[in-house]
Amino acid sequence: MDAAYCSDVMKRLESKVERMIVQIGGKSPHVAREDGIYDDLKPDWWTSGFWPGLLWLMYDVTGKDLFKNAAWGWDARLEECFRRYPCELHHDVGFQFLPTAVIKHKITGEQEGLRIGLEAANFLAGRFNPAGNFIRAWNGSHLGWAIIDCMMNIPLLFWATEVTGDPRYKHIAIRHADTFLQYAVRDDGSVCHILSFDPESGEFIEPLGGQGYSPTSAWSRGNSWALYGFANTYRYTGDIRYLNAAKRIAHYFIAALPEDHVPHWDFRVESLESEERDTSAGAIAASGLLDLAELVPAAEKRIYAGAAHRMLQSLTETYATWEKPDHQAILVEGTGHKPAKSNINVSLIYGDYYYAEAMAKLNGWTRRIF
Ligand code: GLY
Repeated sequence: MDAAYCSDVMKRLESKVERMIVQIGGKSPHVAREDGIYDDLKPDWWTSGFWPGLLWLMYDVTGKDLFKNAAWGWDARLEECFRRYPCELHHDVGFQFLPTAVIKHKITGEQEGLRIGLEAANFLAGRFNPAGNFIRAWNGSHLGWAIIDCMMNIPLLFWATEVTGDPRYKHIAIRHADTFLQYAVRDDGSVCHILSFDPESGEFIEPLGGQGYSPTSAWSRGNSWALYGFANTYRYTGDIRYLNAAKRIAHYFIAALPEDHVPHWDFRVESLESEERDTSAGAIAASGLLDLAELVPAAEKRIYAGAAHRMLQSLTETYATWEKPDHQAILVEGTGHKPAKSNINVSLIYGDYYYAEAMAKLNGWTRRIF
């Protein structure tokens, strides 16, 4: 993909997201099925930050006020979720408040974004279990579960340390990352989804399959969260162990891709023949690979940037909805939770977000949301 190609895709995205503003309106979208209509979930749900994040991204890239105006009120809307009891928010406040409150503050300097972002960071820090050195996943009875996805939530803690000068936030982020480096990243560079600990003693019990095929499989979206998350953690800390982990995960991920460079939902199932793709995993990994390419020596860049280009070109040419103006999503063929038979072969709002984020990076966008 040369510069003209990337610029053309960005222009198409600009028109597409303008149309989405009218189509989506005040909805909090997560999934669109064959009819191309995005659903409307409550803002407590973990995906509620991605649509506003897409709007802030487009505002930052284009400077057009219609994107900013549509994004503006989302941090306050999401903050309401803290006021409900029982509070349904959990470890995913990073996914919800980095692309709303925090990015709003970064772009506009608005103080409410800062306040709400720090409220979310305090909430995330409060989920840390110091006996096991992990941030607790979800709510309910599994007090000792932690998940790989949370590697993408800890940038909220690094940001909180940056803006307050208080190192406690980053200490928690680093301890969580070290736990996942120790127990979740395998020698071959693949990762599992869930780690189970005794919440009282902190003792590691076992890996669990979660949204992947099995405890020993390689759920592609989990692997993409890990790839991007460890690259981020290196960027925030400068600790080479995280860069090496990100590279190892990337090598496994790239080697496991099928011919058209768009991942199946899990890389390690007996036969991939009739298994669905997960375009969201491809979009997340591509965006992470582009950052990774900026963090490695010049001689290594092409390994990661090349893979990202191939994935994005395939997503652009085979999995996007350019020819369907009534379709409210950007990408098709995402897989939400295959083992639960939920949201298979659908559009996912986070797939749309990370695809646009990666294309923005290819067009010279340098701010980072995660
Ligand atoms: N964070 C949940 C998922 O990736 O589906």
